[in-house]
Amino acid sequence: MLNIAVLVSGGGSNLQALIDAKTRGELPRGRLALVVSSKARAYALKRAEAAGIQTAVLRPADYPSSEHYAEALTALLTEAKTDLIVLAGFLVVLPKSFTQRFAGRIINVHPSLIPSFCGPGYYGLRVHQAALDYGVKLTGATVHYVTEVVDGGRIILQKGVEVHPDDTPETLQRRVMEEAEWVILPKAVALLCDKFTNTEGELP
Ligand code: GAR
Repeated sequence: MLNIAVLVSGGGSNLQALIDAKTRGELPRGRLALVVSSKARAYALKRAEAAGIQTAVLRPADYPSSEHYAEALTALLTEAKTDLIVLAGFLVVLPKSFTQRFAGRIINVHPSLIPSFCGPGYYGLRVHQAALDYGVKLTGATVHYVTEVVDGGRIILQKGVEVHPDDTPETLQRRVMEEAEWVILPKAVALLCDKFTNTEGELP
C-alpha cells in the first residue's frame, strides 16, 4: 500500500474526490495517509478529520523562507513515509530543492487545459476568469507532474469541459471541478499507485 499525502489550502473538494474514490474502492493500492494544509482554517482539514486522516497545518508565514518551509514539509512527509504527494488546491509554490527531491512523485491538479491559463498567478477563480475573458469555448482540467516550473511538468491526464455563453467564473469553476477535476485526479492517483506498485516499490 502506498502512502499518499495530500497538500491543500482551501475547500478541499479535490481531497474529497480522493476520499470518495477510496471509499468506492477505486484506490486499492493507495492509502490517504496525511493531509497538510497551508492555512489553519481550510475546510479541507474538516474533510480530512471526518475521514479519519491525519492532518497537519504548515503556514508559510511561520517560516523565514520558502526553503525553510520546504524543509519542515519534507520532515512531515518523511515521518508519514509518503510515497506520493498530491497538490490539490495547494497555493504555495515549492522550491526547486523540494520538487527535485520528490521528482516523479509529486502531482498537481490545475483547472485549465495546460498550456492555456497556467503558470504564476493562475489559480482558483482567476483561471476561469481568464478563460472567459479570452472567449475559449472549451476549457478543462489537467493533472501533471510538479517540477520547478509552475504548472510546467509533464501531463498525466486531461479532460475537456464546455464553456457556456452565460458562464460566470463561479459556474465555470464548478463545472470544471465536477466534470473534470474530481474525475481525473483520483484516476491519475490510481494510475500512479499501480505504476509504483508494479515496480515493486522502486520509485522513479
Ligand atoms: C481547484 O479548482 C484546483 O484545481 C485549483 O484550486 C481549486 C481548489 O479547490 N488549483 C489551482 O488553481 C492551482 N493552480 P479545492 O480546495 O476545493 O480542491
